[in-house]
Amino acid sequence: MPGRVVPGSAIVEPVVDIHLDPAWIDRALRADVAEGLTSQPKELPPKWFYDDRGSELFDQITRLPGYYPTRREREILEREVDVIAERSGADTVVELGSGTSEKTRIVLDALAATGRLRRYVPFDNSEATLRNAAAELAEAYEGLAVHGVVGDFEHHLGHIPDGGCRLMMLLGGTIGNFPPAPRKDFLASVAATMVPGDTFLLGFDLVKDHDRLIAAYDDPEGVTAAFNRNVLSVINHRLDADFALDQFEHEARFDPDEEWIEMWLRSRCAQQVTIRGLGMTVDFAQNERMRTEISAKFRPENIGPELAGVGLAMERLWTDARGDYALTLSRMVEGR
Ligand code: AVJ
Repeated sequence: MPGRVVPGSAIVEPVVDIHLDPAWIDRALRADVAEGLTSQPKELPPKWFYDDRGSELFDQITRLPGYYPTRREREILEREVDVIAERSGADTVVELGSGTSEKTRIVLDALAATGRLRRYVPFDNSEATLRNAAAELAEAYEGLAVHGVVGDFEHHLGHIPDGGCRLMMLLGGTIGNFPPAPRKDFLASVAATMVPGDTFLLGFDLVKDHDRLIAAYDDPEGVTAAFNRNVLSVINHRLDADFALDQFEHEARFDPDEEWIEMWLRSRCAQQVTIRGLGMTVDFAQNERMRTEISAKFRPENIGPELAGVGLAMERLWTDARGDYALTLSRMVEGR
């Protein structure tokens, strides 16, 4: 059980369980790169964006004028957090993809005000980011037991500690990174970790004017472009590759049939890249595109049925004043 109280204070020292050791991460990266760069079209999964530099760039993205999801989600959270605290009845917050846990405090404050808050369980794939956030929150909330889990949320959800009445959260529109079939599997695996009484706070970016969608993923400042190219730098460092970052152009487009944003890196010239760590070379034709991310956009009327499909009853769906973003509260229902 977490954790021991630091003598002389009411700060409970965080406990961090680690399910991602360097060897696991290395194997996963190798498999993804080897497969993705031999596919047609080439493709890399978005989770590899987030080394220290990538996390910093994402943080900058959330403050760009055109990147509305973070601000819209905060607007809804601030408006509805007392209802969320009340309806959830939670003493434990489990946050998937917790990152810097910035918006978390809004929820923790409201639960603390009810006098029920006991425990915070951040779950993230970056140990350094998670340890920082865990230490900060343990210090900010006296008596709060912080039990972090370092894992990949497609593999390690089963290691989330049970007990208490839990509010699970996945914020930021991260759910949009999954294409529909993997999304259903993922949501089912979240539902499988929940017991009756647990609730799930889940954020969705909504379909809107295409120009505004694209502007959110292609800023004039070039931050998103740097974020996109950063995945190449991650591969350069970790797999001893020689991607020339300036030879790849950032592109963002909206696919109106799939209703998702796609980010691509377009090769400016015909070039060969060597990935020494995999003993492989990869050829890019001039203008060949490699897909690095999808970010699905949702229609409010489809969200409830999608959640019902994995056994979650959606009780509330809130949008911001402009209707850009939706936050939902669902419940794991008794008798499942
Ligand atoms: C962290 C997945 C929610 O899809 O909007 C931001 C990532 N990519 N700009 C998103 C991202 C480019 C972001 N998520």
